[in-house]
Amino acid sequence: MSKSRLRVGVLVSGSGSNLQALIDSCSGTDHPAEIVTVISNRPGVKALERARAAGIEAVTVDHKAYPDRESFDAEMQRALDSAGAEFVCLAGFMRLLTPGFVEHWSGRMINIHPSLLPSFKGLNVQQRAIDAGARFSGCTVHFVTPEMDVGPIIQQAVVPVHQDDSAESLAARILEQEHRIYPASLRWVAEGRIRIEGGRVLLDNAAAPAGSMLNPAPESAR
Ligand code: GAR
Repeated sequence: MSKSRLRVGVLVSGSGSNLQALIDSCSGTDHPAEIVTVISNRPGVKALERARAAGIEAVTVDHKAYPDRESFDAEMQRALDSAGAEFVCLAGFMRLLTPGFVEHWSGRMINIHPSLLPSFKGLNVQQRAIDAGARFSGCTVHFVTPEMDVGPIIQQAVVPVHQDDSAESLAARILEQEHRIYPASLRWVAEGRIRIEGGRVLLDNAAAPAGSMLNPAPESAR
């Protein structure tokens, strides 16, 4: 008898390449997670097309149609509830969320960010890493807490910053790693292998989750 799969809602704002990585990884019925809805705050973005192409409900909640963040978040909450979502992945979702929404999903919402947090929170992080002369950058999957780009870290991957990098070339190198560690992190969560203790994430009750840094994720995480 198959176990019930974790019902995941994905929030997006743009291209959705991370969404695609999640869709591809969850496609088998033996995967412990299932994407049940994709919600975009911007109409007409490629991420919505990707969802439809995979036969997943694609919803637009245009933030411009709402007078404030509270009413926008309330509508997203309604959409997530009506899809029966139990867990949320932010995948290139570029809106700040209200404390009430974040609190509701506390411990049940994760994000991918294109820097090695806690360095370079916020926007234009690839250019800022280059401008700072950073030798390494990367990406971080973390639980979402009310403060932006702060929250218990599940996985990170490191990439070199080359002397002649542009923001675009560095972003592309980082994205490759995002597509690897985001699905792996969601799988860990859906398998029930992740626990938050004292602001740190434990994998299988161990202090330092494997599959980070420059090495590929272990086979079991893919
Ligand atoms: C990704 O690089 C993601 O890490 C970043 O936006 C890009 C979305 O690409 N997210 C953030 O900066 C959130 N703070 P995608 O739409 O192709 O997945």
